[in-house]
Amino acid sequence: MDLTARAPGRVNLIGEHTDYNAGLCLPVAIPAATVARVTRRDGRASRITSAQQPEPWEGTPADAAPGAVRGWAAYAAGVLWALEQAGWEVPALDIALGTDVPLGAGLSSSASLEAVVAVAVAGALDLPLDAERRRELVAACRRAETEVVGAPTGGLDQTAVLLAEEGRALLLDFETGSVEPVDVDPRAAGLELLVVDTRVSHELTDGGYGTRREQCEEAARLLHHPSLRPATLEEVERLDDDVLRRRARHVVTENERVLATVEALAADDWPRVGTLLTASHVSLRDDFEVSCAELDLVVTTALEAGALGARMTGGGFGGSAIALVPAERAEACRRAVDAAFVAAGHRAPGHLDGTPSAGAGLTP
Ligand code: GLA
Repeated sequence: MDLTARAPGRVNLIGEHTDYNAGLCLPVAIPAATVARVTRRDGRASRITSAQQPEPWEGTPADAAPGAVRGWAAYAAGVLWALEQAGWEVPALDIALGTDVPLGAGLSSSASLEAVVAVAVAGALDLPLDAERRRELVAACRRAETEVVGAPTGGLDQTAVLLAEEGRALLLDFETGSVEPVDVDPRAAGLELLVVDTRVSHELTDGGYGTRREQCEEAARLLHHPSLRPATLEEVERLDDDVLRRRARHVVTENERVLATVEALAADDWPRVGTLLTASHVSLRDDFEVSCAELDLVVTTALEAGALGARMTGGGFGGSAIALVPAERAEACRRAVDAAFVAAGHRAPGHLDGTPSAGAGLTP
């Protein structure tokens, strides 16, 4: 047995910090991906190496139980543990990883690492990757991330990376669990979806993300709702605490923007899509307070350079921004962002392609 698995990174078009609030998200997978070359091994222990990391990890699924592994290996080996917990007989594998998803860039390098290992195990067991199996893999990757890594994330990334389809975004509803493909073809509309990695690193295990999550839960509790999903803007505006009110306002208005974006996409109304993306950024910057100077600079510069809309994507506190730009202005937009970063004394940003791409799978 000799197989190659591949799992992409993702950008979220809109619907940020809504997944853990039983809300709506609209991610796409991107061309950048993590690749695993996989062979069987004798014995019980698997060995995982990464071209991006100096030390390999070796052990059985039980060796990757919560608390036992740290760093990058927790994401990869944690999936072996989670699959075994789900009743799988995980075979001993040699897994050699490599990725061109920049690490810590808010593009789900972690979820692509988890997903590629999950797909590798399914492939080694000859299990077809149908919709039901993919959902099982999403669940295992989520467990690895929350229990083994200890990052209190909400499921957007693993769902996007494992269920994405080429030329489509996914409308994810974290209240009902529904996943609806939505056609997204910026190129056909003469547009490019640019991804700019600010190279400011963020860590979801840091306090900022967890604090936002707690504040949202507290706001929902004060409003006597199980989550912020059923909350109305009117109710939220009555919250006494200024911080909780702004956090909740972001979530409630962001869910509305996701639905409005899906409508605008169906109507091929790209200027409206752009306006919604920018409104999402403003809300994340001012109400949710998860942006940073570099992300704001990408957004303002892209808009000045002719973008229809731009926003930070992912958890924030650094990471990446997206911009929806007329194709003929894409290069000028990238150059304007580079120049703005030089002028502000920031490190040079990275540029990636945001073309909506296929989800994780085995490659022939
Ligand atoms: C990170 C988390 C996701 C989601 C986003 C914000 O990417 O992993 O679960 O909460 O932040 O939308």
